[in-house]
Amino acid sequence: MMSLQKTFVMIKPDGVKRKLVGEIIGRIERKGLDIIAMKLVKMSKEAAEKLYEEHKGKSFYQDLVSYITSGPVLCMVVAGDEAVAVMRKMIGATDPKEASPGTIRGDLALSKGENVIHASDSEEKAKKEMSIFFSDSEIIAG
Ligand code: PPS
Repeated sequence: MMSLQKTFVMIKPDGVKRKLVGEIIGRIERKGLDIIAMKLVKMSKEAAEKLYEEHKGKSFYQDLVSYITSGPVLCMVVAGDEAVAVMRKMIGATDPKEASPGTIRGDLALSKGENVIHASDSEEKAKKEMSIFFSDSEIIAG
């Protein structure tokens, strides 16, 4: 049984700055997932606060908001069978020291704060996060 899902994926400022975009898109494509929307964005403080609202009040929150708004990010909607869980597996653990080799963070990320990529952790969050950056008409229908 196929379970076609959409998820929100974002290459963070360190990933764009370090020119890892091609490498990461290549991995997503080689895995057979479909990129059905894509946008390079200099994120506003408002968008960052909405994206990370569940972390408001945590010790790293201010650093996270200022880092994520510090340079362009590449936002994508990725579709495929179980796309939410598949992308989370592909990106690996938050802390690159704990991320397995073969994952994007395990292979490419340098620190927990600057960890190259974000992907939604549930279908519900994917819907919310996609809606911050994309209108329905910007997402290619399957
Ligand atoms: S928590 O408290 O367990 O829910 O947090 P965690 O899942 O570890 O991290 C949530 C997001 O915050 C980022 N993060 C940080 N940013 C900046 N500085 C520090 N120290 C830091 N620690 C965690 C982390 O990369 C997660 O971002 P996303 O985009 O969700 O992967």
